[in-house]
Amino acid sequence: MTTLPEIRNARPSDAKAMIAYQRRLFADAQHMVTAPGEFRAGPWRQRFWIARKATSKYERCLVATEGNAIIAMLDSWTDRRQRVTHSTSFAMSVASGWRCRGLGKKLLSHFIAWVQIHPTLERIELHVHADNAHAIELYTQLGFQFEGTRRGAVRYEDGRVVDDHIMALWPRETNVS
Ligand SMILES: CC(C)(COP(=O)(O)OP(=O)(O)OC[C@H]1O[C@@H](n2cnc3c(N)ncnc32)[C@H](O)[C@@H]1OP(=O)(O)O)[C@@H](O)C(=O)NCCC(=O)NCCS
Repeated sequence: MTTLPEIRNARPSDAKAMIAYQRRLFADAQHMVTAPGEFRAGPWRQRFWIARKATSKYERCLVATEGNAIIAMLDSWTDRRQRVTHSTSFAMSVASGWRCRGLGKKLLSHFIAWVQIHPTLERIELHVHADNAHAIELYTQLGFQFEGTRRGAVRYEDGRVVDDHIMALWPRETNVS
């Protein structure tokens, strides 16, 4: 069994590695909203973005690394308007060579455990393309439930149109193993 890398908070010094990771991800992952070429952050903007997440009480940017390279990433965001601020959202990915080894589950479990003991966050929401069976399997295994579907919300470059599911988890009601 492979030992999986530790999950940690991203640091501003990860900026260049994070840009390289995201460029590769958007170039080859089919299930993201961002199309290849649409990701344009430079090192300073990325540094600032990471620094903001690192000091936020309501948002995280988590990574796993191999040497200096980022191999998995989860970032979360929270609307600060008071009527919805108990609910947080996230996006995640694992580098193609590291998929199907349990790293995605480790990363998401780490995030859920953080929300579980957070003083104000109660609900985690995500969006997933309906044709992303692998991600849906992961989210379902960790207790996320389907809440709705935005029909035809995504159109890929080859013309295929897919639905977008909303899934959510109330982690204080869930045991994360
Ligand atoms: C979705 C993603 C994050 C999952 O990460 P991962 O590290 O491969 O996931 P894991 O290895 O932890 O697998 C989690 C579960 O998914 C299921 N799974 C694994 N490989 C699978 C596959 N090829 N097809 C379907 N389900 C699969 C398994 O049930 C697995 O749990 P188990 O091994 O305990 O049974 C990763 O595939 C990815 O980065 N995809 C591209 C970006 C993306 O789609 N992000 C999500 C956008 S919503």
